[in-house]
Amino acid sequence: MELPARPKMFDFHGISMSRNFTDNWDNVQNFKARPDDILIVTYPKAGTTWAGYILDLLHFGQTCPERQASVPLQDRVPFLEFCKPPRPKGTDLADQLPTTPRLIKTHLPVQLIPKSFWEQNCRIVYVARNAKDDVVSFYHFARMNHGLPEPGDWSTFLQDFMEGKVVFGSWYDHVNSWWEKKESYKNLHYMFYEDMIEDTRREIDRLCSFLGLVRSAEEKERVITEVKFDNMKQNKMTNNSHVQSMNQRLSPFMRKGKAGDWKNHFTVAQNERFDEDYKQKMKNPTLQFRMEV
Ligand code: A3P
Repeated sequence: MELPARPKMFDFHGISMSRNFTDNWDNVQNFKARPDDILIVTYPKAGTTWAGYILDLLHFGQTCPERQASVPLQDRVPFLEFCKPPRPKGTDLADQLPTTPRLIKTHLPVQLIPKSFWEQNCRIVYVARNAKDDVVSFYHFARMNHGLPEPGDWSTFLQDFMEGKVVFGSWYDHVNSWWEKKESYKNLHYMFYEDMIEDTRREIDRLCSFLGLVRSAEEKERVITEVKFDNMKQNKMTNNSHVQSMNQRLSPFMRKGKAGDWKNHFTVAQNERFDEDYKQKMKNPTLQFRMEV
């Protein structure tokens, strides 16, 4: 089967973007959030699918088991700004969600979030992942997903990432501005991929207290088992195996699911250059990432 041509990247309100994320912009900006909506925000490849599945199971795992078996996660947790026919628009999928609360995901930087989410004081779960593992994961994802601009080779992509010339812009700006946002916006839970790797149970406990959910030890245990990497990789509802633009033979969507895989990709010289640049961009001492667990 012939794969679609790759989209081009362009500047959109100061952020690198491609049309799949901007073509429905009026509807995104005018999206009507409800007070009980839960927004899952990430820079691409930080563990969006993992967090989305955890939230979905915590909310609906007990009450709607048939949904778990028959509705792909991307339809249960719509991607707000995504717009690529023939798939329904993210805003339409979100509008049609039958659940309360609605779980909605986005990769938008803080300044582009539709204003109704702030006005409705919605709960926001932000997941951040260390830059080195993120860029490696992003590179492999861009290789296998023809819905994204052409990534070039590894060293080109790494340089583009450092310059913010990848879709959704600068990782550095994204994680920092969301981190700062939690000072003024109290309904924001900022969590780290590495913490989820280290202790999924603890992070689920924290999520439950943020979301005001009471779940039994057995229910939590079931969620922990379901969201293990190997189980999500086998699960057709979470592994994106039906997504046509993804060539999973080139690189699976559920690729490695580890912290520290960057060591298999960065050369010593690339690592030194990256660290030097990182120091310049990551000046907030309260925001610290672990490059391995
Ligand atoms: P890798 O490419 O490093 O394996 P997103 O959902 O934001 O696109 O992020 C995808 C990344 O999260 C991939 O990273 C994927 O393997 C990882 N991931 C997804 N589910 C996971 C899980 N249950 N445990 C650990 N990592 C997971």
